[in-house]
Amino acid sequence: MMTKSESYIASLGDINLIGSDLDTGATTKGATAYIIGAGAHGRVVLDVLRAEAKWASFQFIDENPDLLGTSINGALVAGNFQYLLQQDPSQFGVLPAIGHPHYRQRLVKRIEESGLNLINAIHPTAVIVSTAQIGKGNMICAGAVINSNAVIECSVIVNTCAIVEHDTVVHDFASLSPGVIAGGRVEVGHSVFVGMNSVILQRVKIGNGTIIGAGSVVHKDVSAGVFACGSPLRVLEKVTDDFDFGRIL
Ligand SMILES: CC(C)(COP(=O)(O)OP(=O)(O)OC[C@H]1O[C@@H](n2cnc3c(N)ncnc32)[C@H](O)[C@@H]1OP(=O)(O)O)[C@@H](O)C(=O)NCCC(=O)NCCS
Repeated sequence: MMTKSESYIASLGDINLIGSDLDTGATTKGATAYIIGAGAHGRVVLDVLRAEAKWASFQFIDENPDLLGTSINGALVAGNFQYLLQQDPSQFGVLPAIGHPHYRQRLVKRIEESGLNLINAIHPTAVIVSTAQIGKGNMICAGAVINSNAVIECSVIVNTCAIVEHDTVVHDFASLSPGVIAGGRVEVGHSVFVGMNSVILQRVKIGNGTIIGAGSVVHKDVSAGVFACGSPLRVLEKVTDDFDFGRIL
C-alpha cells in the first residue's frame, strides 16, 4: 500500500517535488483544502484547487470576523487560524493565498511551526516537465509552463500563462504575474514581484525583494530591493518597508 505522500506524488504524474514528505495527506479521502485569505487571490486559489480535483472540500480561513460563516464562491469561511489549530492536521492541507510576500512568509512560518501540511495548488493545464523541481506552498495557474530543470522553490506564485524556461530558479515567495516570460538560466530572487507580461532575458538575475513593473523588458541584472520598470528597464525607487503593495496587487 502506498503511503499518503507516495500516492500524492503518483497523482502528480512525473512532477518532481522537492523533498519527500511534502503534501502528506493530500489524497486522503474526505480531506479539506483550507485556503488562508478570503480575498481575490483566495478565490483564484480556490479555482485552481477545484480544477485539480484532488480534495473533497474547500474552505477559507480568514482573520476578519465579519466574513466568518459566509460563503465565497461556494466555499465557507470556516474560521481563523486558531480554528485551524483545533482541527485534526491529518485531515487537511493548507495554502496561504496572500499576495504580499512578507505577510505570506510570516504565515508560512506559522504554518510550519504549527506542523500543518502546506500544499501546492497546480492547475491541470499547467505544463511542468519531469526534470523541473517544485517546492511546497506554490500556486501554479492555468496555462503556466515550467520547463526543463527549472526550480520553483516555496510559496511562489506562477500566475496564468507565465513561462519559466529551462534552468531558471524562482526563489521563495517570488511572484510571476500573468504572461511573464522568464528566459533560460534566469534567477528570480526571494520575494521578487514581476508585473504582467514582463520579459526577463536569459541569464538575468533579479535581486531579492525587487519589483518589476508590468510590460517591462528586464535585459540586465537588477539589484535587490528596487522598483524598476519599462523597456529599456529603468530603476525608479528603492522598495522600502512601507512600500504600498496595493499598487501592484
Ligand atoms: C508597478 C506599477 C504598479 C507602478 O505603477 P505606479 O505606481 O502607477 O507607478 P508610478 O505612478 O509611481 O510611476 C512612476 C513612473 O514610472 C512609469 N511607469 C509606471 N509603471 C510603468 C510600467 N509598468 N512600465 C513603464 N513605465 C511605468 C510612470 O509612467 C511614471 O513615469 P514618469 O515619472 O516619467 O511620469 C505598475 O507599473 C504595474 O506594474 N502594475 C501592474 C502590476 C501587476 O502586474 N500586478 C499583477 C496583477 S494580477
